[in-house]
Amino acid sequence: MDERIITSDLLKEDSDEMTIRPQSLKEYIGQTDVKENMNIFIKSALIRKKPLDHVLLYGPPGLGKTTLAYIIANELGSNVKTASGPSIEKSGDLAAILSTLEENDVLFIDEIHRIPRFIEEILYPAMEDFCLDIVVGSEGSTRNIRINLPPFTLVGATTRAGDLSAPLRDRFGIIAKLNYYTEEELYNIVKRTSRVLKMEIEDDAALELAKRSRGTPRVANRLFKRVRDFALVAGSNTITLEIIKDALKRLKVDGLGLDDTDYHLLISIIERFNGGPVGLDALASSIGEESSTIEDVYEPYLLQIGLLKRTSRGRMVTDLAYHHLNIKKK
Ligand SMILES: Nc1ncnc2c1ncn2[C@@H]1O[C@H](COP(=O)(O)OP(=O)(O)O)[C@@H](O)[C@H]1O
Ligand SMILES: [Mg+2]
Repeated sequence: MDERIITSDLLKEDSDEMTIRPQSLKEYIGQTDVKENMNIFIKSALIRKKPLDHVLLYGPPGLGKTTLAYIIANELGSNVKTASGPSIEKSGDLAAILSTLEENDVLFIDEIHRIPRFIEEILYPAMEDFCLDIVVGSEGSTRNIRINLPPFTLVGATTRAGDLSAPLRDRFGIIAKLNYYTEEELYNIVKRTSRVLKMEIEDDAALELAKRSRGTPRVANRLFKRVRDFALVAGSNTITLEIIKDALKRLKVDGLGLDDTDYHLLISIIERFNGGPVGLDALASSIGEESSTIEDVYEPYLLQIGLLKRTSRGRMVTDLAYHHLNIKKK
């Protein structure tokens, strides 16, 4: 699959994300409830001089989970150690990470739902009692020993909270869901990125970019950088509305932030399934994609903006979709 410019997944070209990333809760735009609550929990932990309760952050890619994890550590004045679910293949991998922890560290585990179940169990006593149970010795003469760990905070991030086992989920004291951002919030994010990257953008242009960013800061920042390229090459040191419209037309991103893949999906449902309802698997094979890709990547934004809906009998395009695509309903 070609890389989509509007994908919310992390691409190579996003490698400078660290420089654009807000470092404090104050700089973190939107997600007001999450931010306010987190601020209280962090302050309380600092007053009590105890580690913050374990935190689970969940929500679609690109909404700021990793950013928030680092901010939490910053606000606590703690060091961060990081790991990711897919890279933990053996019990020893996780034990090794846990045994490097120092007092009040934040351990950030990205894609935590991808830790295999039998390894995940190591986390239970680590989270609950700050200890690590390991088996030593060789076959025939093994014994269990328990090692104390320093108090620490686990921050887990996942795009699929439903895939987390109940015992793991229950061990998080703080569970926060990140939502798609409003246009106004994305506008503020675009303005902030403009300051950080030292490239001016006019207000109406920033709003237009916000509208086309699929509710997702990562997409907003990526589009910003591409549009900046068009502006600079055209000899302009300011991004204008006209430049945005022209650039996004060339990048094939429409007024709602939809690209060819979105069109393909919606038009397939209309043409091959008479608008739906169509089951996920039938739809997947019709457009030659994995069902899970449709579910995780293609449809969340289409559902969010109401072009697609899920019914008990499958996916349906809405009247709004017919209208947006300028197709007459049969
Ligand atoms: N609340 C926010 N305010 C400003 N920028 C944000 C915010 N959330 C995310 N970003 C930007 O979006 C990019 C992607 O965020 P990230 O934390 O990597 O998302 P996730 O981990 O959920 O996939 C970051 O580089 C950051 O610049
Ligand atoms: Mg992330």
